[in-house]
Amino acid sequence: MGERLKDKVAIVTGAGSGMGEAIAHTYAREGAKVAVLDVNEQAAQRVAAAIGANAAPIACDVTRHDDLDRAVAATLKAFGRVDILVNNAGVTHVNKPLMDIGEDEFDRVFAVNVKGVFLGIQAVVPQMRKTGGGVIVTIGSTAGLRPRPGLSAYNATKGAVHNLTKTLAVELAPDKIRVCAIAPVATDTPLLPTFLGPAPGQREKFIATVPLGRLAESQDIADTALFLASHEARFLTGNIVEVDGGRCV
Ligand SMILES: NC(=O)c1ccc[n+]([C@@H]2O[C@H](COP(=O)([O-])OP(=O)(O)OC[C@H]3O[C@@H](n4cnc5c(N)ncnc54)[C@H](O)[C@@H]3O)[C@@H](O)[C@H]2O)c1
Repeated sequence: MGERLKDKVAIVTGAGSGMGEAIAHTYAREGAKVAVLDVNEQAAQRVAAAIGANAAPIACDVTRHDDLDRAVAATLKAFGRVDILVNNAGVTHVNKPLMDIGEDEFDRVFAVNVKGVFLGIQAVVPQMRKTGGGVIVTIGSTAGLRPRPGLSAYNATKGAVHNLTKTLAVELAPDKIRVCAIAPVATDTPLLPTFLGPAPGQREKFIATVPLGRLAESQDIADTALFLASHEARFLTGNIVEVDGGRCV
């Protein structure tokens, strides 16, 4: 057990899988109490049970304002305050050309990846103002910095949340709320095959474009999310931190 987040309370969205799961475990290991939010209630329960008493599973669809308000109320009931929000929940459409992406797919990725982040931040800011500050970390993507073909709608969602991060870093600075984002490169999670698409050999082709020679692992992202939420990052706000083995250089 570490103490880098001792006495802090964190909400992690989409914490039932992949990066969010790793972030929830890492925060709890460093002394935080963690609200494990996921639209998949069973996944949230599994992760919270594995963490133990310092985690609370909460069913929450981040596209729904009411769900988020309920989740913040449940976090306050369980742990008394909210210091950290990690906007991690995200979805993508299958890698395919512009003209093959349906309006329903476009609406879905924007609802979860952009509206969900916006509503999540609105849900916690009043609490953070009450306690004199906080940290918001949003999972963006290298897709929002160095976009490549086949993921046009998804890439646009990540550009949007990078911009939102910078806007709110300035707007919420007087409240002592720091707002940063992480831009992971392709990461080994259940979402990865959808990003890469069905063509054979995509994984190896992608790895060849990463100077450090591998995909990201969820723990690479969790360790960066830990740093950004910790006291060590006290003078960082508005940063989009690439965790990409040099891919965006
Ligand atoms: N995997 C990658 O290659 C990669 C790279 C860069 C950025 N990202 C981003 O990282 C974040 C996490 O992705 P991951 O790869 O860990 O994916 P994942 O599919 O393993 O986990 C995402 C979790 O979010 C949950 N979720 C989906 N919609 C939700 C909603 N409406 N409300 C609440 N929870 C919801 C899912 O149930 C799932 O548990 C996403 O924002 C994704 O865009 C992923």
